[in-house]
Amino acid sequence: MARVSQISLLSQVPGVRSRLLTWYDAHRRDLPWRARPGEAVDPYRVWLSEIMLQQTTVPHATPYFQAFLARWPTVSALAAAPDAEVMAAWAGLGYYARARNLLACARAVASDHRGVFPADLAGLRTLPGVGAYTAAAVAAIAFGLRANVVDGNVERVMARLFAVETPLPAAKAELAALADRLVTADRPGDWAQALMDLGATVCRPKAPLCELCPLSALCTACAVGAPESYPRRSAKGERPHRHGVAFLLTRGETVALAPRPPRGLLGGMLGLPTTPWRVAPWANSEALVHAPQPGTWREIGAVRHVFTHFSLDLRVLTATARVAVEKSAGPLVWRARASAAADTPSLFRKALELL
Ligand code: ADE
Repeated sequence: MARVSQISLLSQVPGVRSRLLTWYDAHRRDLPWRARPGEAVDPYRVWLSEIMLQQTTVPHATPYFQAFLARWPTVSALAAAPDAEVMAAWAGLGYYARARNLLACARAVASDHRGVFPADLAGLRTLPGVGAYTAAAVAAIAFGLRANVVDGNVERVMARLFAVETPLPAAKAELAALADRLVTADRPGDWAQALMDLGATVCRPKAPLCELCPLSALCTACAVGAPESYPRRSAKGERPHRHGVAFLLTRGETVALAPRPPRGLLGGMLGLPTTPWRVAPWANSEALVHAPQPGTWREIGAVRHVFTHFSLDLRVLTATARVAVEKSAGPLVWRARASAAADTPSLFRKALELL
């Protein structure tokens, strides 16, 4: 049935487009990075907002966006900012690797493109931190180019509209292909943002508001009365499990933190020193190779943390620092026990609470 609906729906592309764009004209969210109708679009604002929104939600990102724009109103101003000031302004938005890429991108635009963002997909993709999604979003929203902008909201809307039975994440290519059939050279930026707004406010993950949806009459999932059951997800094994061991080294009232490697999950953030995170559990003897000092470590508990792509069991070992070893123990940062948690992501906060 889904296949028949897809074929008939694809023949209704103009209807889907005109309904959604009309709805957007009446209900679009007034967001600080969006140009009002008739206003010129500022690619700097679009790019900055897209980088922030990959990290967090619209309500959380909004004050950060406004603070950045007030302080660094152009990409050249941001490019000239000292690293530490940008990092401090980013604090609370998550992974510092993104902030570092943000600065690298601003500097690339300032130095290699005379302060003007490249106005095509290929040029945008050459910029640091600009992947396929961001390049498509900036191309469509800032430059009015026909680009297929697919985020989680758009995937959900497509999965429901066309009742796609393939579960995520395998369905990603299929959902992107369906979304692509609906993009035209007419108002591509508004189209992308209309889908985002519909996904965020009406076609919500839970309790979608089909009675307010401009597409409900065309929506296969709505027709079968089960919008919430799309997108389908594989029942099991969707999120792999990993194991790690964290080392809680204390010295008086202080505790040792270590910067995480710049790339990868929690890149550049301060955390407890840990073993790598892997599928097989760690025996203490092999884990201790990664400890910040050799000797006797005592197990004080374990924490479980669920990341987007895997869950992690982190056993926590503790020891008291020995002055003689400490000098050779790598780049440790000593923080007061009472305030260390505030400087680390929640995984490590949970581990510190075991003390
Ligand atoms: N999420 C990501 N980009 C967005 C945008 N331009 N508007 C609203 N939500 C978004």
